[in-house]
Amino acid sequence: MSKTTVSAPANIAFIKYWGARDLARALPMNPSISMTLKACVSRCTVEVTGADHDEVWLSEPDGGFTHPGADFVRRVVEQLDHLRAWSGRGEHFRVATRNTFPSSAGLASSASGFSALTLATVGALGKTATTPPAELSRLARRSGSGSAARSVLGGYVGWPAGTLDEAAEEEGSYAVQLAPASHWDLRDVIAVVETGAKTVSSRDGHRRAATSPYYERRLELLPGRLDVVRRALAAADLTLLGPTLEEEAIDLHLIAMSSHPPIFYWSPGTLEVLRTVRELRQEGLAAWATMDAGANVHVICDPAAEPAVAERLESLPAVGFVIRDGVGDGPVYETGHLF
Ligand code: DP6
Repeated sequence: MSKTTVSAPANIAFIKYWGARDLARALPMNPSISMTLKACVSRCTVEVTGADHDEVWLSEPDGGFTHPGADFVRRVVEQLDHLRAWSGRGEHFRVATRNTFPSSAGLASSASGFSALTLATVGALGKTATTPPAELSRLARRSGSGSAARSVLGGYVGWPAGTLDEAAEEEGSYAVQLAPASHWDLRDVIAVVETGAKTVSSRDGHRRAATSPYYERRLELLPGRLDVVRRALAAADLTLLGPTLEEEAIDLHLIAMSSHPPIFYWSPGTLEVLRTVRELRQEGLAAWATMDAGANVHVICDPAAEPAVAERLESLPAVGFVIRDGVGDGPVYETGHLF
């Protein structure tokens, strides 16, 4: 039992998790595939205390601590409850967390945050060495942020939808590494056009997805797209991956916009970036765009194209700043702590 600090990265999905069979347990309607990032990281320190309640803090860059919002505290404590039930232990925890990137701006802060929380809590309980990666992924998924199941692994990660057998699904729905980061050096230039919290959570998006008249069609098209992405990953072929990557992102937003009630995650800056990415391709650069449930655009490109892509996106008036990220090796257990 010891204080444990984990830095866990965000991930960007090439094939998106959108729509759940069981939202509380984050059992997805469809398989997803993502790339784990390295610069966009959540850092979390967890310590077992003798208190009768959990303490949750946001760690500030200046070393200070603030109280997070009630909703965030509730989600963290719920995940700590899951981990208490899993470990058969009743102790409470002190938790501090910090992101290296804007929270709740469609940059998967929940995925990195809940992955870091889960790994650090398992560590604080002294169970890291005896818990296999599949179990860590399943535990992270149980936070309700399904994409956290993918962030416990590095490189390229697949999360199967699972079977229709409820019991097997609960045990079996976890992410697996498809290829290590060293397999393919892909970059993600993130054009940040909005830093505020999104107005509709991914959770509400999942809930509404099936109300879109196009959702069934999306599910029909996904096996073909998954096949393309798997082949592109195996061959490290960006010209094969790119068009499907972009089509899939547009499809996610098409479902969101045609849900009842509709969800519009895009801002005018999103369209400006999408247009610029098409222009960059016309100029011969291999770059394709994808977005999660937010306005910001992830531009996936190879290392040779990255400087030109970043420079062009930075020059756009609608782009506040650019984060130059890329595929990474996954979570790191840190020796320094947040408290
Ligand atoms: C659009 O339920 O994992 O990012 O809890 O906000 O991270 P958060 O969302 P989650 O859904 C992820 C939705 C997505 C697509 C994806 O990452 O697969």
